[in-house]
Amino acid sequence: MFSANRRRFLRQVSSAGIACSANLAFGRFLSAQTPTSNSGDLARVYVDTRRTLAPIDRNLFGSFLEHLGRAIYEGIYDPGSKLADSNGFRKDVMDEVHHLGVPIIRYPGGNFVSGYNWLDGVGPKQDRPQVLDKAWNALNTNQFGTNEFMAWCKAVGTEPLMGLNLGTGTAEQAAALVEYCNVEKGTRWSDLRRKHGYAEPYNVKHWCLGNEMDGPWQIGHMTATEYGLKAQDAARQMHAVDPSLQLIACGSSGPFMPTYLEWDREVLEQCYDYVDALSLHRYVGNTAEETGSDSSKYLAMNLSMEKQIGETLAVCDLVRGHKRSPKKLWLSFDEWNVWYRARSGDAVNGHGQEAPHLLEEVYNLEDALLVGGILNSLIRNADRVKLACLAQLINVIAPIMTNPNGMFRQTIYYPYSWALQFARGSVLNLVVESPTYDVSGMGQVPYLDVAGTVSPEDGKVSLFILNRDLSKAHAIEVNWQDKSPARTLSSVLLTGDDLKAFNSFEAPQKVSPKTLDKPSIAGGRAKFEVPARSYAVIQWGA
Ligand code: AHR
Repeated sequence: MFSANRRRFLRQVSSAGIACSANLAFGRFLSAQTPTSNSGDLARVYVDTRRTLAPIDRNLFGSFLEHLGRAIYEGIYDPGSKLADSNGFRKDVMDEVHHLGVPIIRYPGGNFVSGYNWLDGVGPKQDRPQVLDKAWNALNTNQFGTNEFMAWCKAVGTEPLMGLNLGTGTAEQAAALVEYCNVEKGTRWSDLRRKHGYAEPYNVKHWCLGNEMDGPWQIGHMTATEYGLKAQDAARQMHAVDPSLQLIACGSSGPFMPTYLEWDREVLEQCYDYVDALSLHRYVGNTAEETGSDSSKYLAMNLSMEKQIGETLAVCDLVRGHKRSPKKLWLSFDEWNVWYRARSGDAVNGHGQEAPHLLEEVYNLEDALLVGGILNSLIRNADRVKLACLAQLINVIAPIMTNPNGMFRQTIYYPYSWALQFARGSVLNLVVESPTYDVSGMGQVPYLDVAGTVSPEDGKVSLFILNRDLSKAHAIEVNWQDKSPARTLSSVLLTGDDLKAFNSFEAPQKVSPKTLDKPSIAGGRAKFEVPARSYAVIQWGA
């Protein structure tokens, strides 16, 4: 039955460290194949609401706004716009972000932060300098800075995740920004904030100690040991100002780095005791190098990200062992997305202009399906990944695009909005049996990628289902192991004939959600079909 090219069934168990096979390499959740499966093409999902992995931290579905291209200027701040309020904030964008319910937003970078002097962006606007941002070769007028960001966060109902400059910036400057943001009064920097007209402290909890410091492209790039020592110094000074901070050290920029994992280990050897989390980043593309431009491999790339999570955790726990530390770090996947088209030349060079059109990636259907798969991977790893940011939010590799007259939703908006809407409570420890297909370099990959959540308050169960099969629908039987829900509450679906279809201002609804026929429940089972090339979310209620 298991000749290399025959379709197989794979049993996917969504808990960490379950029994393994060759497939373990593709994720902490993958488990042994079930050689006895005789269920034809039917996939089975076993749900037991008593078996959960971890509560989901809402910050798992955060996002990111960098001073880059038209993300801040024109995107969220455009005082000359007919759509702006008296603060210069785009009202339509604020409404959309508020409606999405984004819990946390990283700011101000990204590569930008490593050359940013936060003092340039505070105080009277007429006194703020125009500065050349050397990360993206763009002009920053500094009309939007820390206080404007805090006001915008409050208005859209989100929390700030503040990035610190550990490139050209010093540990002292990092601690000064903490003091400016979090101390009530009576110190140099808190009194400066008050002088600027903001009496109340912001109490920002989460801070990133620099950005991608392993990358030779990063302003102030240094060795792992140098960075680890600088992060330790910054953490100690910041904690002296506010001991309640949650601090995230910079991990590897991705598995493509020659220093991948070794960087993480060396950094943590220096600063493990002083930080709470380690960051990881990942951008995926359907390119000749990465996937052979093969969409069926592309749709499996979330499993490669899951492997990255497992490897990064292994390093954290190795250093924990070295240190004999009682503390377990969590992961901050604070940049992830599809990004491969707008990645070179004029797409990344602002030519000294204000708000240039940079990184304006156009997302198609297959990108949205993969984003759904990535969200499934994040959900399955919610026991250790406590924060993650879809990079980014507006105009720059973003789900929301604006022009002077309005905005539209890119394809990737939909799976992201469904995670925000439906992934609540705790992650279910599902057992999934799925037929599989062979992917070069990855082995057998399940056609159906499933994650699930249960909300303890109201008992609502949601399943998030990616069907990677490009040509066939698949039948799924959900088996309720403890109690069967009374009804199906909702079922949303993204699918289409053309994997390359995309939305635009001219055709904003080309790729848009459909409804899946609501599955009926009988005898503790629900049976339904998911179309080829699809991502679906179904929610059941007591
Ligand atoms: O999100 C775009 C860029 O990607 C960020 O500035 C950087 O951190 C990463 O390389």
